[in-house]
Amino acid sequence: MARIPLVAGNWKMNFDHLEATYFVQKLAWLLRDAKFDYKRCQIALMPAFTALRSVQVLVEADNLRIGYGAQSVSVTSQGAFTGDVSADMLAQLGCRYVIVGHSERRKYHPEDDANIVDQVRAVLTAGMQPILCVGESFEERRQGIELEFAVSQVNDVTRDLSKEDMDHLIVAYEPVWAIGTGMVATPHTAQDAAQAIRAHVREGFGQAASDRVRILYGGSVTSKNAAQMIAQPDVDGFLVGGASLDAEEFSRIARLT
Ligand code: G3H
Repeated sequence: MARIPLVAGNWKMNFDHLEATYFVQKLAWLLRDAKFDYKRCQIALMPAFTALRSVQVLVEADNLRIGYGAQSVSVTSQGAFTGDVSADMLAQLGCRYVIVGHSERRKYHPEDDANIVDQVRAVLTAGMQPILCVGESFEERRQGIELEFAVSQVNDVTRDLSKEDMDHLIVAYEPVWAIGTGMVATPHTAQDAAQAIRAHVREGFGQAASDRVRILYGGSVTSKNAAQMIAQPDVDGFLVGGASLDAEEFSRIARLT
């Protein structure tokens, strides 16, 4: 079964709402110029919360086929939770995706496995798609347990999900050692992890669910390595960090995907 690839740009804490607007206009123009086929590959941008409304206005006004979403979400729906943003608030801004469990959130914020499960649940309940990030550090790789580690992070979330939920989950395999370091995983490494994650989905939810689930690779993706990576049978696109801050480079990655 053919899965439509997704190229998602995780802007992290970059771009205010004006810069975001400029970027989206430029990206749309570059893709239009390149006659980009949005049916062949989906594009998404994950701005900071403060830029989401500006991106929404632009996407809707110009009828752009660029999806967007948030980089994290509160596990509660409303109330006295200073600084939090709920899944419903994001859905009302037209968000289609929310990144959940990025290693930077796991490291710098108290986002443990239970919190990540709750975020996934909140995103699904609000009708959006979680992009669940998993991946080992150098230490797990040194110990040779990288595949078990990534699969167990997936399992922590999927054991509580239904088959229907699985239709909306996207997994991003992002080895921590590859994030922002320029040390991209080899295509073989990315394929091994994506294959192991897909096999795990098959065990829990059956062949059809495993054929459908999209598994992205993230970690130092650029236009220099995207083509080899996407040639791997179980890699269905990318979660791009640094290279998503340059509209020309990001559009090149999308065109190679
Ligand atoms: O979410 C994106 C990843 O953290 C990858 O970031 O492309 O800058 O390595 P990077």
